[in-house]
Amino acid sequence: MADKLFIFDTTLRDGEQSPGASMTKDEKIRIAKQLERLKVDVIEAGFAASSMGDFEAIRAIAATVRDSTVCSLARANDKDIQRAADALAGSDNKRIHTFIATSPLHMEKKLRMTPDQVFEQARTAVRFARKFTDNVEFSPEDGSRSEFDFLCRVLEAVIAEGATTINIADTVGYAVPELYGQLVKKLRERVPNSDKAVWSVHCHNDLGMAVANSLAGVQIGGARQVECTINGLGERAGNTSLEEIVMAVKTRKDYYGLELGIDTTQIVPASKMVSQVTGFVVQPNKAVVGANAFAHASGIHQDGVLKARDTYEIMRAEDVGWATNKIVLGKLSGRNAFKQRLQELGVEFESETDVNAAFVRFKDLADKKAEIFDEDILSIVSDEAAAAHLQEYFRFVSLSQRSETGERPHAKIVISVDGKEVTGDCDGNGPVDATLNAIESQVASGAELILYSVNAITTGTQAQGEVTVRLSKSGRIVNGVGTDPDIVAASAKAYLAALNRLQSKTEKLNPQL
Ligand code: KIV
Ligand code: ZN
Repeated sequence: MADKLFIFDTTLRDGEQSPGASMTKDEKIRIAKQLERLKVDVIEAGFAASSMGDFEAIRAIAATVRDSTVCSLARANDKDIQRAADALAGSDNKRIHTFIATSPLHMEKKLRMTPDQVFEQARTAVRFARKFTDNVEFSPEDGSRSEFDFLCRVLEAVIAEGATTINIADTVGYAVPELYGQLVKKLRERVPNSDKAVWSVHCHNDLGMAVANSLAGVQIGGARQVECTINGLGERAGNTSLEEIVMAVKTRKDYYGLELGIDTTQIVPASKMVSQVTGFVVQPNKAVVGANAFAHASGIHQDGVLKARDTYEIMRAEDVGWATNKIVLGKLSGRNAFKQRLQELGVEFESETDVNAAFVRFKDLADKKAEIFDEDILSIVSDEAAAAHLQEYFRFVSLSQRSETGERPHAKIVISVDGKEVTGDCDGNGPVDATLNAIESQVASGAELILYSVNAITTGTQAQGEVTVRLSKSGRIVNGVGTDPDIVAASAKAYLAALNRLQSKTEKLNPQL
């Protein structure tokens, strides 16, 4: 059998632990379907015991996804494992992933447990998880800072209990490639039953080395599963980025000699979907999925690429799913053309009513903007899905604003609050500030604005602006995304979207538990 590297995607679990990246059930289902199109081997759909929202999302994904294994995280205790098993019950291709910290620091200060207690809890947990499935993963949390002999003892015991995947977590991103690769290698050599499990790597990017560490775990250590997220989303500096791992292994197959099951043409669509849903913008120079990843600006490079592509290109943009911006639809396009384009983009709506609502948004946009690109359609889909499932308590109605050199900008906004229209009228330092002040004059949310960013979703001055707003209130952090050809209107929509999330009771309070 070919030497295969398994791709375990944890965008919906570890990725969601980024402050503000929490996703609704429907957003998670959309992303899970895209991950299935991408052909990832395992989708970690969430942490069933962490909230009702996570439990329901895992259950829905387990009932929907067929081609990838669906996994839930669980702490090493019966209650969490039972929750994971219940959420996954509808899947015949499932995995339970259980973990407990094994480093002296975590055991003593966080768990307040002795090594012997941790050892016992790890084995009992794996034994219990095996009652529900024969596909069980065990992670020693903070594994890279754990004491080697103790780690060997725990791993041998959990494999003996039936763990089929062993995942060495570099929880705090402390590892360096050589040492981490050696650690995985030595563990595999020392643990007597190591050949009974697939070894996996899980690296955080605090020192910018998550991808390098994961590759060292594969190449030096012999790991055959990499845990990663789309766009490297994740706590703090994020996780190993899926697109970088996949394209490194594929492009340098001469060196790694590994097979992958991934359909790489689905990488950019997945990246755009995750960015749009979470509001986490992809930096332009990000490898593989950044807007500039395939742009050649210098004259020498352009000249070379025109003569022979491989002078300066090691991968082809189309192989990772970059399509040149196509004008797909316009003002005169009908409902059928719109529906067909949705199908081509892999977007599925639950009902004709939802398609109709998205089509109304499309027509509205086509009135303002002559050329509608795929990115515009995807942003309409995101807006529609958010509106349908977050129950728009706050809704944008209309905006007029005035700004003139030497004058203080002024905005007048009409919004609907729980179905009742109200008007806010305010000044501000700039048009966006005036608009957000006008909203606040009506809603008095008490939320603190902690991030505001604007991006153009396609090229040119006709492009729609995509605004991300991050709000914090009483320990909760939420993101809101808004798009519109008018960036001030996009800002108002993003602000209202974030307020709707703060309002929503189903949003997870603390993704980390
Ligand atoms: O970083 C970590 O330790 C984790 C584990 C739960 C695998 O995410
Ligand atoms: Zn992690």
